[in-house]
Amino acid sequence: MDRLTQERLIEEIKEHNEIVAVVSEYVQLKPQGRAYVGLCPFHGEKTPSFTVSREKQLYHCFGCGAGGDVLSFIMNIENLTFGEALRLLAERANISLPDQHLSTPQRREKEELERLYKLNDLAARFYQKILLQTETGKRALAYLKERGISRQTAEQFRLGYAPPHWTGLVMFLRQKGIPLQEAEKAGLVRGGGDGYYDRFRDRLLFPILNLRGQVIGFGGRILGEGQPKYLNSPETAIFQKGRSLYGLFQARDQIRREQQALIVEGYMDVLQAHQHGVPWAVASLGTALTTDQVKMLKRYTGRVVIAYDADAAGQAATVRGLDLIQDAGLEVRVAVLPAGEDPDSLLRKEGADSFLRLVAKSVDLFTFKLSYILEREDLSTPSGKARAINQVFPVLSQVRNRIAREGYLKQIAAALSVSEESLYDQWRIYCYNLRKNKQGLDIKNNQRHTIDNTHPQPQLISPEQRLERELLRGCLQEKDNFERIKQKLLMEIRFTSGLYAELLQQLADWDDPGQWPPPANIFAPETRNLYLELLSENELNPLPVDVEGCYRRLRRAQLMKEIQRLQQEVAVTSENQAGNTGSTKNLHEKLALLNELHKKLREEFPTFYGLT
Ligand code: UTP
Ligand code: MN
Repeated sequence: MDRLTQERLIEEIKEHNEIVAVVSEYVQLKPQGRAYVGLCPFHGEKTPSFTVSREKQLYHCFGCGAGGDVLSFIMNIENLTFGEALRLLAERANISLPDQHLSTPQRREKEELERLYKLNDLAARFYQKILLQTETGKRALAYLKERGISRQTAEQFRLGYAPPHWTGLVMFLRQKGIPLQEAEKAGLVRGGGDGYYDRFRDRLLFPILNLRGQVIGFGGRILGEGQPKYLNSPETAIFQKGRSLYGLFQARDQIRREQQALIVEGYMDVLQAHQHGVPWAVASLGTALTTDQVKMLKRYTGRVVIAYDADAAGQAATVRGLDLIQDAGLEVRVAVLPAGEDPDSLLRKEGADSFLRLVAKSVDLFTFKLSYILEREDLSTPSGKARAINQVFPVLSQVRNRIAREGYLKQIAAALSVSEESLYDQWRIYCYNLRKNKQGLDIKNNQRHTIDNTHPQPQLISPEQRLERELLRGCLQEKDNFERIKQKLLMEIRFTSGLYAELLQQLADWDDPGQWPPPANIFAPETRNLYLELLSENELNPLPVDVEGCYRRLRRAQLMKEIQRLQQEVAVTSENQAGNTGSTKNLHEKLALLNELHKKLREEFPTFYGLT
């Protein structure tokens, strides 16, 4: 198609899609002066600043700045590319897009798809007629009645009935002169040669529609008990189970209006929901939602409520099913249904109000997972609590928002009836270990492959520092350890790192006699990390630290180091000395200090001197 024809075509499509009419399908517009105004569908607002001009065939929002013509409106609101929006509007106006730009094989493929759509449509009409207008359909109609589905709902969803004899559809298609190989490709008949027979027999049929309202496949329910309960169309060129949502064609406007989608499991749930005035329901067709399905939903709303039966919801929440929706950026809430009930049974028993109350009481995904875990552990025992925590923390670690996480920690503490502080500390230890394990893995990987300088190598820790750590760690193990040695530590030990000294000072300042070790949140972030490291080391290595022994070794090492340093200085000063009084005075001082240190060392460590 040359440029000129293309532009003419675009103009034609625009002319046949009057903007006020198109926008009105999505936004409630009121005339105001020469324009129409409504609530902007592209940003949340309470007073209308979205205007549409019939004269100019343009829209503009004074609130968020969105604006353009009918094509850009469709692109934005349906999340479509230019080409897709053009196609949608062309179809809306019954303009057929020329196929010239397609290569011969592409055109063949397109024609084949068209034939499949037509065939499915023909079949749906055939089945619907049998259900609604024939003697054969009576049983299925009775079944529908028994399931509480009205004729109106049946018509809205184009329900049908596949007759029980094996060649109902086959004969119908033969009469119409339709090649049965085609019907086989559409998944409607099976066999081959002269042996074609219907795929669906004696089943209530639920046509599955795409977003253009075309039939792409069927689900078929047995009338009553039996296996398989549902038989679905096979995957065909136009039907992939993971790429369609049952009911979305009927529900999407309501979903947009409601600003949320209700996701149920089955065909019947969708039907009952729509019939009971909850028309924003779609079904995932019994399997875990796929990314494709989530993407489709995202075109209409940012929020979904899951209403599966209790078992299925638990399953979906534990196997990443629902995380997938959340990861796509949608808000996920879970309506907790009573055990053994699905939306269909609930709506029938209790009615829409009671069902909607459950929906309103839906909880966010984490809360749902939390209660799912907690319900399955005996929280009256310490080991049950520990097991619950072990399951909850990995889930919590996936919550990226800090504020949300803090809220959840509170929730967990309350649910387990443990103090928020101690849970916080546990959580931080968990995070620390998580990071450490990850780092450990990184380091291992680095060693196996090449050295990657972007990863920090573990810092080598001096023997002295190791003692300092041990000492502090021992103090955290027992309040008594700390009390016995506190004064000496404060007075005599010079820590190699300011962080250690600070940690010690804060421990000394902590004056709640009841709680030891103190909660981590009393420490500044840098010291807190060190503190948590020490706590988690204690967790992993609960053997009591010999704090006195540590102290003595550390003290001795420090004394000796100091003596060594002074001796070196004295040596240098006496070599350089040239009668300079300043440096002589200095030298005397240093010698005196050195003497004193030797004395201390002798007093405090008699055996040490004895040995030399
Ligand atoms: P359920 O077994 O929960 O059935 O499967 P249901 O929807 O409650 O159906 P009723 O109320 O017994 O009539 C949920 C969904 O899983 C798919 C269907 O989409 C079904 O609606 N499914 C189930 C199948 O595809 N095949 C099956 O054999 C069973
Ligand atoms: Mn059911």
